[in-house]
Amino acid sequence: MNGKKPERIIIIGAGHVGAATAHALVTRDVGDEIGLIDILADKVLGEVLDLQHALPYLEASPKRIFVADYGDVKEADIVIVAAHSPDAVFNETADRLSLLAHNAKMARSITKQVMEAGFDGIFIVATNPVDIIARIVYEESRLPASRVIGAGTMLETARLKSILSEKLAVAPASINGFVMGEHGFSAFGAWSGVTVGGIPIKEYGLADAKTALDFETLNQKIRDAAYDVYYSKGETSIGIANILVRLAKAVLRDEHAVFPIGARLTGEYGLKNLYLGIPAVINRQGIRETVPPKLTSDELEKMQHCGELMEKHYQGVVNL
Ligand SMILES: NC(=O)c1ccc[n+]([C@@H]2O[C@H](COP(=O)([O-])OP(=O)(O)OC[C@H]3O[C@@H](n4cnc5c(N)ncnc54)[C@H](O)[C@@H]3O)[C@@H](O)[C@H]2O)c1
Repeated sequence: MNGKKPERIIIIGAGHVGAATAHALVTRDVGDEIGLIDILADKVLGEVLDLQHALPYLEASPKRIFVADYGDVKEADIVIVAAHSPDAVFNETADRLSLLAHNAKMARSITKQVMEAGFDGIFIVATNPVDIIARIVYEESRLPASRVIGAGTMLETARLKSILSEKLAVAPASINGFVMGEHGFSAFGAWSGVTVGGIPIKEYGLADAKTALDFETLNQKIRDAAYDVYYSKGETSIGIANILVRLAKAVLRDEHAVFPIGARLTGEYGLKNLYLGIPAVINRQGIRETVPPKLTSDELEKMQHCGELMEKHYQGVVNL
C-alpha cells in the first residue's frame, strides 16, 4: 500500500452476481478491500475463501478479501447491492417486476442497516427490478440521488453492442449509443443516436441488403438476450458483474465517463422522481449529471411509457 486510505468495496449478496462481481473486482484490480455480506454464512465464507485462493497467482495489487458485516460498511467507498430475497420468484413470463414486493422489502432492510452503520459513500444497485429498487435505496438512504447509481440499461446497451458487432462484423467498441428506459420488458434502443464508426446507424451499410436492420426486431432481440442466458444457464452474472466493476472503477478513478446507468430523473423527458436507464456522467461523486440525448417522438413515447410503468409499480410497494 502507498499510505493512501485503502479503497473498500462491500458487496451485499454473495450469490451468482455478488460472487462474480467480487471475482471481477479482483481480476480487474479494482479496490483494495473487498468485503462480502450475505445471510448465508457458509456461502459467503466459501466465496471469500475461494477468492483468497485466487490471489497468489494474480498479477493484481495486494487485496484484502473478507466476510464482512454491517460494521465494516462505515469505511466503505462503495456498497454494491446484489442481494436477492429467497422469496422473490419470477412469474410465468419471468418479468423482473414480479420480483418487486419481496426484493423491495429486503432492499429497505439492507439500506437501513447500511445507513445505521454510518455509510457515507456511493451505492451501486443491481438487484431487480433494478429501477425501482434503486429508487427505494435512494429514498431509504436519504443520500443525495447522485450517490445512488442503478445498473440501469448498462446490460441492454452491452447486448446492443454485442448483437450489432456480430451482425455488422465491427468491434463492439466502435459502436456507440444507448439502450434506455426500464431494465426490463420496456427497454428500447435509442436508435436515432446509435453510431457505427461515427456514422449514424440508420445510414450505415444500408446499401447492402445483408446488413439492413429492423430496429423493432433488434429491440426485441436485446430484451430477449437476458432470457437466452437465463434459460440456458439458470442465472445471469458475468455480464452484470463486469458492468458493476466498470462503474466502481469509474467512481474510484473519478473518470467523468458517460454510461447508461439508472439515475433519478428530475424532469428529463417530462419524468421525475423515478429511476430509469439514461446516459449520465459518472465521477468520484457518483452521478455528476444526466446527459439526456434528443429522442425521436417514438423514442420519447417509449421512455415515457417506461416512466409510467415504473411509477405505477413503485406506488404498489411504497407502503410495504
Ligand atoms: N441489474 C441487472 O442488470 C441485473 C443482471 C443480473 C441479475 N440481476 C439481479 O441481481 C440480483 C442477484 O442475482 P443472483 O443471481 O446473484 O441471485 P442469487 O439468488 O444467486 O443470490 C442472491 C444472494 O442474496 C442473498 N441475500 C438474500 N437476502 C439477503 C439479505 N437480506 N442480505 C444479504 N444477502 C441476502 C442470498 O442469500 C443469496 O446468496 C437479482 O435480483 C437479479 O435479478 C440484475
